[in-house]
Amino acid sequence: MKKTKVFLDESEMPRQWYNILADMPTPMSPPLHPGTGLPVGPDDLAPVFPMNLIEQEVSTERWIDIPEEVLDIYTLWRPTPLCRARRFEKILDAPVKIYYKNEGVSPPGSHKPNTAVAQAYYNKAFGIKRLSTETGAGQWGSALSMACQMFGLECRVFMVKVSYEQKPFRGLMMKVWGANCIPSPSDKTEAGKKILAETPDSPGSLGIAISEAIEDAVGDPDARYSLGSVLNHVLLHQTIIGLEAQKQFKKLGVYPDVVLGCVGGGSNFAGLCLPFVRDKIHGKDVSIVAAEPTSCPTMTRGPFAYDFGDTAQTTPLLAMYTLGHDFVPAPIHAGGLRYHGMAPIISHLVKEQIMGVRAYDQIQTFDAGVKWARSEGFIPAPETNHAIAAVIHEANIAKEEGKEKVILFNWSGHGLVDLAAYDAYLSGKLVQYDMSEADVARALKSIEGFPKP
Ligand SMILES: Cc1ncc(COP(=O)(O)O)c(C=O)c1O
Repeated sequence: MKKTKVFLDESEMPRQWYNILADMPTPMSPPLHPGTGLPVGPDDLAPVFPMNLIEQEVSTERWIDIPEEVLDIYTLWRPTPLCRARRFEKILDAPVKIYYKNEGVSPPGSHKPNTAVAQAYYNKAFGIKRLSTETGAGQWGSALSMACQMFGLECRVFMVKVSYEQKPFRGLMMKVWGANCIPSPSDKTEAGKKILAETPDSPGSLGIAISEAIEDAVGDPDARYSLGSVLNHVLLHQTIIGLEAQKQFKKLGVYPDVVLGCVGGGSNFAGLCLPFVRDKIHGKDVSIVAAEPTSCPTMTRGPFAYDFGDTAQTTPLLAMYTLGHDFVPAPIHAGGLRYHGMAPIISHLVKEQIMGVRAYDQIQTFDAGVKWARSEGFIPAPETNHAIAAVIHEANIAKEEGKEKVILFNWSGHGLVDLAAYDAYLSGKLVQYDMSEADVARALKSIEGFPKP
């Protein structure tokens, strides 16, 4: 019988996260205070995040210990298997071996609890009683709801309205884990009321929901805000994925030629690829590729610029690829990829050409996801379908070049709560959205005159 999965024993699970900031080949542009134009200090962030996470955000220590309490919860589903997709390889008929990290085996069904559990732990340790957050697809909101429940914290989730309506079951999962899920824009915050006054039928966006969640947290001394992607400490917590994958590949005696994943804010992709980026910086020949939607083409069409992380301009200015903080992406089903910006760490590595980016349209990604489900069985999340489309693209390149390649990608989550999206695809109702040059130019108006990184 051929081997399909590589497991690690619980005792082999990494005990530390990897911090790429220790190995960045060139300095990153710091987050700026929008009022003073100067780099933000820890005190500027204190009303939003607990100080122990702010310290992680700016740390340049290469290895950071994972607390025992976090490891203990990780063992509910970690280490996750590294799987070989032989049946998918067969239908592609290309000279490639395809491996994937199955992050869909966690209780909420994605990579998101890797950081949700860590963030709930650090907030609890700092004496915080309630967390407020946003969610796009609902994967992040459900992960944080579960994590808060495990540490006895209250949890409030602002969910992008279009996803709230497309995916009622995600909201119900949050309820089961004891959280309060509110469609955004809402009338619970000034930021939400302003958007509703201007655009009563706004489908919402991650940028708007982030503004609501920050406002909600900052108004309550016992509450803090929690972000499911983009920030350095979030990417740090996700590196357990890539560190496990490296141990699993070592067992196989193989090293991947290509490492890829889908990007919304960049956390699952970073989690898998940053340990491989470290090898690349030290001379390893590995290609690292991010996959984004053509309807929200942050890195393939947007500039590298300073911009706010949210629509109401409450965050520091981040140096990142962006489509402008007031950009409201088309209502594609991959809700977790509808974000105007990108993690500064990923943005920096793309700018330095250490990693590449490709964009795929919604229909192409569902084509890929259905091919996957019909060969490998597991139904992927719509976000994950972008990574699968990129795998097909890479396999076709290998075929044209006549080169054998080992491809590794992050299977960031399952799509069992996204079946309405599959229904739309299968019944021919799925719409393809692309941005024209004029759309991109319009989107970027909001950052005119901002400082340049
Ligand atoms: C399954 C899944 N994959 C990917 C993403 C994109 O987020 P990130 O780029 O932070 O991994 C999300 C976000 O909600 C998601 O739920």
